[in-house]
Amino acid sequence: MNGTVFQADGRTPAPNVILYVHHTNAEGRYANGTGESEWSRRHGRLRGWLRTRVNGTYSITTIKPAPYPGRNNPAHIHMFVLDPRKPDPYWIDDVVFDGEFGVYEQYRTARLNQGGPGIVKLTSRPDGMLHARRDIRLLA
Ligand SMILES: [Fe+2]
Repeated sequence: MNGTVFQADGRTPAPNVILYVHHTNAEGRYANGTGESEWSRRHGRLRGWLRTRVNGTYSITTIKPAPYPGRNNPAHIHMFVLDPRKPDPYWIDDVVFDGEFGVYEQYRTARLNQGGPGIVKLTSRPDGMLHARRDIRLLA
């Protein structure tokens, strides 16, 4: 997954923004965290931080998460933003996969679009990797 983080104007790239990303494993669980921190225990192994480049871009290489077992939530990737101009981090809409389980009309209309829409289209690349693009608009 990759994308560009923009300032609230939706046009100006935002460098040096920290993104914290976490998601379930292929069984829909936040698993295999370590005891190093509460966040590791709660969010499992599939998590990490990055800093946007000078041109505001970022990229993440990971696996595709699965939905929570036995629930109606779509598979999703959680994202939090730490904007260097703001004192506190904040969440933005989860990334979910267009056309997949749980991404139905009611779900779509209930989204807040915080950070911009997080409903992404997955495409297959020649090397077999799936690709998604999620651009982010910072809050004003
Ligand atoms: Fe979740």
